[in-house]
Amino acid sequence: MRVRTEPRPIIKTAEELDKMRAANRLARAVLAEMGRRILPGATTMDLETEARRMTEEAGAKGAFYQYRVGDKVYPYYLCTSVNDCVVHGFPDDRPLQAGDLVSVDYGCVLDGFVGDTAWTWCVGEPSPDAKHLMDVTREALYRGIAMAQPGRRVFDVAREIQTWCESNGCGVVRALVGHGVGRRMHEPPQVPNYAAPESRRDRLRAGMTICIEPMITAGTHEVYEPAGKWDVLTRDGSLAAHYEHCIAILDDGPEILSVPEDI
Ligand code: MF3
Ligand code: CO
Ligand code: CO
Repeated sequence: MRVRTEPRPIIKTAEELDKMRAANRLARAVLAEMGRRILPGATTMDLETEARRMTEEAGAKGAFYQYRVGDKVYPYYLCTSVNDCVVHGFPDDRPLQAGDLVSVDYGCVLDGFVGDTAWTWCVGEPSPDAKHLMDVTREALYRGIAMAQPGRRVFDVAREIQTWCESNGCGVVRALVGHGVGRRMHEPPQVPNYAAPESRRDRLRAGMTICIEPMITAGTHEVYEPAGKWDVLTRDGSLAAHYEHCIAILDDGPEILSVPEDI
């Protein structure tokens, strides 16, 4: 999401990187369990209850719970964004049904450091259009990660994601971006999914930890936020997908911290 941040990215020490590994491994374990529970008849509130239980059992805190943006306070451990909801959907009691496209974003704070990762699943078999959107968005994430080399710029990551998604007929949301991450969930730099000129300034250096998180639609890039609510919806009602990894930039390239990758 777009937040105001100070200009300098925070370079992590080896010890801090280890804590980022632990936090993101936990985040990924919780997210994987959410994926296993996305079944017809389940509710996203069931997922929320389990995410909260797993977080507490691990001695961690929910990174989203009571997170403040402007004058809004986020009330849950998970974002569960279904169909045309891009991000920040609230868990609710509607039973999931075959064909629903469910993006789950989860964050935790463990030993002072943040884990943040998201994935999209379909309930049952996806339609060809939903499958295309999921495949393009997941591939965009990995293409972006491959670009995240020391000495390159955030702009290179962003342009790669945009070019790939648009050349495959998908819309790239601009109103929301990835971000640096560490002791706080949102640190500099912002990591857009489109070639924002200001990202040319942001050089990637060893020791940075960032979240790359393409938020992609099957239609246009425009989104809207109903007044006073958290949900971000596609303006044209098209489906949206969201995949997010937290990575460290190391001397020899990117390391994915939100592992295991396959969930
Ligand atoms: N985890 C989201 C991100 O990837 C942010 C969630 S905002 C919250 O940046 F308010 F829901 F916490
Ligand atoms: Co996230
Ligand atoms: Co994030």
